Amino acid sequence: METCWWVLWWRLLVVLAVADVGLAIDEYSRADFPDGFIFGAGTSAYQVEGAANQDGRSPSVWDTFAHGGFAGGPTGDIAVDQYHKYKEDVQLMAEMGLDAYRFSISWSRLIPDGRGDVNPKGLEYYNNLINELISHGIKPLVSLYNFDHPQVLEDEYGGWVSRKMVEDFRAYAEVCFKVFGDRVSHWTTVNEPNILAHGSYDQGISPPGHCSPPFGAAACVHGNSTTEPYLVLHNILLAHASTVELYRRNYQVGWLTFDPSPRALLSDDHEEQLYIVQSADTRYLMVVEV
Ligand SMILES: *[C@@H]1O[C@H](CO)[C@@H](O)[C@H](O)[C@H]1NC(C)=O
Repeated sequence: METCWWVLWWRLLVVLAVADVGLAIDEYSRADFPDGFIFGAGTSAYQVEGAANQDGRSPSVWDTFAHGGFAGGPTGDIAVDQYHKYKEDVQLMAEMGLDAYRFSISWSRLIPDGRGDVNPKGLEYYNNLINELISHGIKPLVSLYNFDHPQVLEDEYGGWVSRKMVEDFRAYAEVCFKVFGDRVSHWTTVNEPNILAHGSYDQGISPPGHCSPPFGAAACVHGNSTTEPYLVLHNILLAHASTVELYRRNYQVGWLTFDPSPRALLSDDHEEQLYIVQSADTRYLMVVEV
């Protein structure tokens, strides 16, 4: 049964969010989950790291978007400052009893130009974080991408609307496998690609804020809501496939998955939620979502 239970640890948060709107949290216990299920918490780089302009990190599309005022004003310049406070954060995770911590790597911190040279300070930070987690018995679960590619790639060829992202993503992933793969055995390529396509290229509410009337939830200046979400998802699927192929061939020591957001868990039917939790399987989630 060494299947992909670990994928669903993250989903527990969604289940609990459902509980929040109708069902009591105490209707669930660890016993409802399969043996070996990993309980943890997750973040994304831009939401927690801060240090946006420090130690060689270049702007990502999220910096541009937030500083353009499109996220309501706040930015991730400082955030919760995990870049400087990772030791305290890991200590808190250990005290909470987390089995795992899922975080994302900031592409623009590790490879500021999008391709080419690795930023030694970025490398050092993720090495420190990974080592700190492991020394506290917490499994590092790494997302390669959480909506935040380097702005330089957006400027050069339009980011995900271009097929060129496939090659650059794969090269970035390969760096991560090489430098962290001795300690990281659980990887996700792209976080919530369906949400990315919808929010960023249909609704225009996340970077790069593309949409076209009548679909956008923002003022639409750039984009085409009829075509770009599909184009972008197609390129993301190609990047995922290319990276999986690379991982399997040269680097595989653990798991690599895709992470579509599981709307099925938003069911308000208790029996259905339990069924989903107990039959947790990556393929199931993918079929439901992609
Ligand atoms: C979006 O692209 C389609 C296909 O090329 C085209 O028919 C449509 O007019 C475009 N919409 C906008 C808003 O540019």
